[in-house]
Amino acid sequence: MINGIPTLEDLGDVAGKRVLVRTDFNVPLNYDGDTVTIVDDFRIRAALPTIKWLTERGAEVVCASHLGRPKGGPDPKYSMDPVRVRLAVLAPGVELMENLRFNAGETNNDDEFVAKLIQGVELYVNDAFGASHRQHASIVGPAKTLPSAMGRLLEKEVDVLLGVRDRPKRPFVAVLGGAKVSDKLGVVEALLDVVDSLVIGGAMCFTFFAAQGKSIGDSLFEPDQVDVCARILAASGDKIHLPDDLVGLDAAGNFATWGTYLPDGAKGFDIGPGSAAAFTDVIMDARMVFWNGPMGMFEDDRFAAGTRTVAQAMADTKAFTVVGGGDSAAALAQFHLDDDVDHVSTGGGASLELLELGDLPGLAALRGAPNAN
Ligand code: 3PG
Repeated sequence: MINGIPTLEDLGDVAGKRVLVRTDFNVPLNYDGDTVTIVDDFRIRAALPTIKWLTERGAEVVCASHLGRPKGGPDPKYSMDPVRVRLAVLAPGVELMENLRFNAGETNNDDEFVAKLIQGVELYVNDAFGASHRQHASIVGPAKTLPSAMGRLLEKEVDVLLGVRDRPKRPFVAVLGGAKVSDKLGVVEALLDVVDSLVIGGAMCFTFFAAQGKSIGDSLFEPDQVDVCARILAASGDKIHLPDDLVGLDAAGNFATWGTYLPDGAKGFDIGPGSAAAFTDVIMDARMVFWNGPMGMFEDDRFAAGTRTVAQAMADTKAFTVVGGGDSAAALAQFHLDDDVDHVSTGGGASLELLELGDLPGLAALRGAPNAN
């Protein structure tokens, strides 16, 4: 038991028992005509310690996951088949249900769907860290009645991320990027209470620039968040570091570099070299760094330099480094630096919500399981 949450050991003897393991096998897929391939099987491999722990002790494991965002009915595009093929190689003999989101009861957290999920099942394990911020049937339902536990992956994610939140080594630096500032404001406000420096890049910086009255050309920003950003800037003292140069396309569509005043028609797509160097210095001087969200549109080579430089600094610094999942984890993998940081989380939204709130619906559900106390 860790903080009131049962672990695998708290399931008792699992031999001969059928165990439902909620995994997050929401992996990136590539579609080429009729051929679907898994771009990165990181999330499948991450579930193996739990699956192996159970099968080695004689349990009959049935995994269940969502994949993509189908609209509550079967959709061949989101079939679990490619994942099933990969899982059969990595963990032979383990069953995998069809995409949970093919039934609207999953996202609606419907009791009847929960009852269907746990039919014939004796134990429940949640190892789907990346989906544990969702109040969905497979995340919060089974633990109401079945003896339950968190899997090894969920346990490790919670340990690392709550460690960052509650026991930071100083200087503690958070680096946030990505396009949508509205997704990140909660975590920005929560992190400002604990970090020594908060570095902000990616398109979300334009809403902060708009709040400072700077001209941002035609860059992406969220007008309805400008006031919140202004309030955050005013309250943050000198903790927030914004870029001081940017690159993008000018009104004629040509690659250009600017300071932080963008001309009419210009669109910023990455932080500039000066900012990348400044952000590197902050990361190198830290003892703990959390990074979530790319610094620019790194999928396009012209705008990958900022994200690549930050990824390299994460790899090079002596600080304890944690990368929130999603795009920043994909960027690290693209630059082959994923083995050079201390922890790459399998959850994007989940890691942000855990840092912001210190808890997740999936964890709360496990604390209420019949074998928890
Ligand atoms: C993720 O990819 O972040 C998780 O699998 C959750 O997926 P969702 O955002 O579609 O709920």
